[in-house]
Amino acid sequence: MERWRSKVTGGLKGRVVEVGFGSGLNIEHYPGEVDIVLAVEPAAVARRLARQRIAASSVPIEHIGLDGQSIPLDDGSCDCALATFTLCTVPDARQVLAELRRVLKPGGSFHFLEHGLSPDESVARWQRRLDPLQRRLADGCHLTRDPLALLSEAGFRIEWSQQRYARGPRPWSYFTVGVATKAADAAP
Ligand SMILES: C[S@@+](CC[C@H](N)C(=O)[O-])C[C@H]1O[C@@H](n2cnc3c(N)ncnc32)[C@H](O)[C@@H]1O
Repeated sequence: MERWRSKVTGGLKGRVVEVGFGSGLNIEHYPGEVDIVLAVEPAAVARRLARQRIAASSVPIEHIGLDGQSIPLDDGSCDCALATFTLCTVPDARQVLAELRRVLKPGGSFHFLEHGLSPDESVARWQRRLDPLQRRLADGCHLTRDPLALLSEAGFRIEWSQQRYARGPRPWSYFTVGVATKAADAAP
């Protein structure tokens, strides 16, 4: 997992908003070019677990909100955005992506690492079957979301992406990592 986290955080710089910040597992991977991370995280327990990592971080980190569906930042105010294993869990992934697009500067980049819908029909069938149980047991996490489709639908341009199975049971391990941008001439 550390390799994937290093890969997705590569190229982050300036003012970065991270949705689903969790307990701060990406902190050690932020590049030196990051000036500040603005964290959005609803779970009090995750925010508590993050405290020590934040205290030890060389990059300043500020919790600025509780819900990626409504980010308390101005339009076009961030250079980059980051989400890892979060689009699967948020209630409305489309609304989160609309918010990320809004707060990104034109030309800004969204770095994502997610698990999601497999292109293999036999695995996808299991994912659809297991989805209701997964959502109940894993805090709303879906197995059947397709990150690249959601990003394209939200108006992002995929700059690069890689998809593959990681180790583990296939319904949970089809991973997508990549970077998408908000077009440089996009309206706020
Ligand atoms: C599977 S965890 C991933 C945590 C962390 N990003 C990581 O890679 O370890 C999903 C995170 O999304 C958070 N989350 C759930 N609903 C959210 C929302 N509406 N807005 C922002 N984050 C949310 C959860 O509290 C949790 O911390």
